[in-house]
Amino acid sequence: MRKDTLVLGIETSCDETSAAVVRNGREILSNIIDTQIPIHEKYGGVVPEIASRNHIEAISRVIKFALKEANVKIDEIDVISPTYGPGLVGALLVGVSYGKALAYANNKPLVGVNHIEGHIAANYLTYEELQPPFLCLLISGGNTMLVLVKDYTEFEILGKTRDDAIGEAFDKVARVVGLEYPGGPKVDKLAKEGIPNIAFPKTHFENSLDFSFSGIKTAIINYNHNTKDVNKANLCASFEKIITEVLIDNTKKAIEDTGIHCLAIAGGVSANSFIRKEILNLQNEKLKVYMPDMKLCTDNAAMIASAGYYNFIKGKSSSLNLNAIPNLKL
Ligand code: KG4
Repeated sequence: MRKDTLVLGIETSCDETSAAVVRNGREILSNIIDTQIPIHEKYGGVVPEIASRNHIEAISRVIKFALKEANVKIDEIDVISPTYGPGLVGALLVGVSYGKALAYANNKPLVGVNHIEGHIAANYLTYEELQPPFLCLLISGGNTMLVLVKDYTEFEILGKTRDDAIGEAFDKVARVVGLEYPGGPKVDKLAKEGIPNIAFPKTHFENSLDFSFSGIKTAIINYNHNTKDVNKANLCASFEKIITEVLIDNTKKAIEDTGIHCLAIAGGVSANSFIRKEILNLQNEKLKVYMPDMKLCTDNAAMIASAGYYNFIKGKSSSLNLNAIPNLKL
């Protein structure tokens, strides 16, 4: 029998300081998330310098807590996996430096993880049976893409946003209607009280699976500016309905083009209740749909540890020269 592999994942790419211990890429032994949302709330968004400082303050404590909750000592950890991009450079550097120091001091392999791969891997922590190949609709604060997951560490981007990420559009719409950062969950809640009766524009590209959200964002800013007594709930419901239609149209095309009838979603926006409901409605005897647990949709280190495991067993590793790459691509 193969020995278990325990990975310590470290995530500091944006405003969550997180550490987790995951067994064999699938089983979460701990997943500690120290969120900075209350700190950044008063600025209306993440302030990079403040994020870095708070990661520094939290990281030792969060890692100690993750080991304690998993009931393992650092000696028992087999691999150390920090996120090294994409994200805020100063924030990433905290996790990367800490991970490198831990790996060096304890003589452990270091495997840097691409944050986007981590989001996809959140599905492996929710579904024991899920294996590539599958399609993944990755919708987060920094990315929007349709990915063909060919293998655990092999990806093909079938379509991506040409401008804003979907999470940015959610946060912008929230700000326009006076909801506080992070706006996505608040738009989600308010939309439930509304009727999707406003016709905002829907962007599609010919012969392409790319997305664009800047048009609807501008249309909403203009509508809000030029309309008396805006019904905010209807505005949020209309926005959600239109962008979900775009996501679904492109996803259906990707299923048709690839012939792959296994679909996962991932990223912070995959926590959206309307999107989850509509994506789940696609499921039928031919198409199987996977969605990460709600707490694994947004940034967390368990998903990073899972991706670290799959990179490690493929023989990938990082040297102590590992650096943060803010615009790292999948
Ligand atoms: O995946 P994530 O934590 O960060 C990145 O890796 O980019 O995503 C954060 C984004 C934010 O834009 C936030 O507003 C959005 O996910 N979000 C949501 C919901 N929960 C988080 N958007 C819509 N509905 C939600 N329930």
